[in-house]
Amino acid sequence: MADTPMMEMRAITKRFPGVLANDNVDFDVRAGEVHTLLGENGAGKSTLMKILYGLYQADEGEVLLDGEPVVIDSPTTAISHNIGMIHQHFMLVETLTVAENVALGLPSSKGAFTDLDVVSDHIVELGGKYGLDLDPSAVVWQLAVGQKQRVEILKALYREAHLLILDEPTAVLTPQEVDQLFGTLRQLTADGRGLIFISHKLHEVLALSDRITVLRQGRVTGHATPDGATRSSLAEMMVGREVKLAPDKPDVTVAEPALVVSGLEVYGDRGLVAVDDFSLEVRAGEILGIAGVSGNGQRELAEAIAGLRAVTKGSIEIAGTDVTNNRPIEVRDVGLAYVPEGRMKDGCIASFTVSENVLLVDHRESRFLNRGLFDFGAIREHSQGLVDEYSVKTPTLETPVRSLSGGNIQKLILARELEGTPTVLLASQPTRGVDIGAAEYIHERLVTQREEGTAILVISEDLDEVFGLSDRIAVMYEGQVMGIVDPATATREQVGLMMAGVRPELSP
Ligand SMILES: Nc1ncnc2c1ncn2[C@@H]1O[C@H](COP(=O)(O)OP(=O)(O)OP(=O)(O)O)[C@@H](O)[C@H]1O
Ligand SMILES: [Mg+2]
Repeated sequence: MADTPMMEMRAITKRFPGVLANDNVDFDVRAGEVHTLLGENGAGKSTLMKILYGLYQADEGEVLLDGEPVVIDSPTTAISHNIGMIHQHFMLVETLTVAENVALGLPSSKGAFTDLDVVSDHIVELGGKYGLDLDPSAVVWQLAVGQKQRVEILKALYREAHLLILDEPTAVLTPQEVDQLFGTLRQLTADGRGLIFISHKLHEVLALSDRITVLRQGRVTGHATPDGATRSSLAEMMVGREVKLAPDKPDVTVAEPALVVSGLEVYGDRGLVAVDDFSLEVRAGEILGIAGVSGNGQRELAEAIAGLRAVTKGSIEIAGTDVTNNRPIEVRDVGLAYVPEGRMKDGCIASFTVSENVLLVDHRESRFLNRGLFDFGAIREHSQGLVDEYSVKTPTLETPVRSLSGGNIQKLILARELEGTPTVLLASQPTRGVDIGAAEYIHERLVTQREEGTAILVISEDLDEVFGLSDRIAVMYEGQVMGIVDPATATREQVGLMMAGVRPELSP
């Protein structure tokens, strides 16, 4: 029968201690389509996909491939059934070349050299066909994030994946890289492959999907197609209530500049100038958004402001105090709160519990001490407050952070960092990886802090976020300010051009 889905999951149930991660879930994919899984952080999307890829075993339910029941007990079995998974955190060996990574674990690799030539040729061929440009001899650590992802996709295609699972593949990509990826994915479905796509970015979901299935608290709560849906309707299906996609911003009278960056020069990891004669002021009570394609010096700028990276020229002032090249703790004491970009890597300790992670920055505070000893009651109360406020889904405060879903870890760290009323708040990619409901809350939170007189610098690649939040938008390109625009009058196209290095006076 032509209508038989290439893959069908029936009545899948999966329990973890204290959590029903998947509850009687039905999900299928037909050849040639993109079927998107949509849901809030912790809804059970990754769990369902890990079951399909053989990383977890379902407690109940079955998987059918081309109508036949199969048992997928490991990723090796999944691969033998032509299922591929692109994980959000890449599984590549950084010191090996592209070809070596693709060849790794292939059953036929005998006589490394001849084989590698064959592998390289096939990589170039597949790359040409699907727009996955790569040099097979490049060493992986030298590649940009988007290129590493192409290696992962090539790896799956090399193993003849017909069904490809993409778990938040765009979370780490720049808008240009997303466009390229979508080109590749459309080519793959045109060739009859089936794709499962997960993303929190609703415009991506609308642009790419053929069908959409919504999960909430482990259960399927709805189905949609892009022609009958809008960003708002999808958000509402996911969250179960109406969601504001852009925050209401009351007028605020801006005061003195609280953060002044003048003529800044900062070097990047590879010994090249990353921030080049960069000057900017952020006033108390305003949100200044920095738009730009990542890799244009944003990370180095943020690290320099936070005291984590040396400044070679120029200066940084916070509330009138020169903090150039001060230590991070000194900058924090002057009134900087910092939400780093690499929250999963720099922001938490995976084996520590939720409470312990909340305590990571606050351990010096007296409110958690009682005669020199930790006051566990106060710590619990404080952690519970943050968990409730940000609706971090966790079975208990004693759960190790590693068993939370990706987005819930992000929320927990944000909750910790966004506390209090700092003089200056520097937030890099504040809503990356978090769901719509949490993004709405974080945006409201930033707007509230703006009303309380915090000077806020938001670095983001998400133009919706930059336009929705900012009082002024600075576009950063190759370490410099390309221009500053007013979001009320500027267009996305203008900002997009500036992000690509076109000066505003040159654009129409
Ligand atoms: N290995 C595990 N041990 C215990 N609990 C787990 C484990 N993996 C997932 N969970 C729990 O199962 C639930 C579903 O998590 P899952 O990772 O599937 O969510 P998700 O929909 O992918 O969310 P996100 O958008 O944040 O990535 C969560 O409550 C999570 O804490
Ligand atoms: Mg997930």
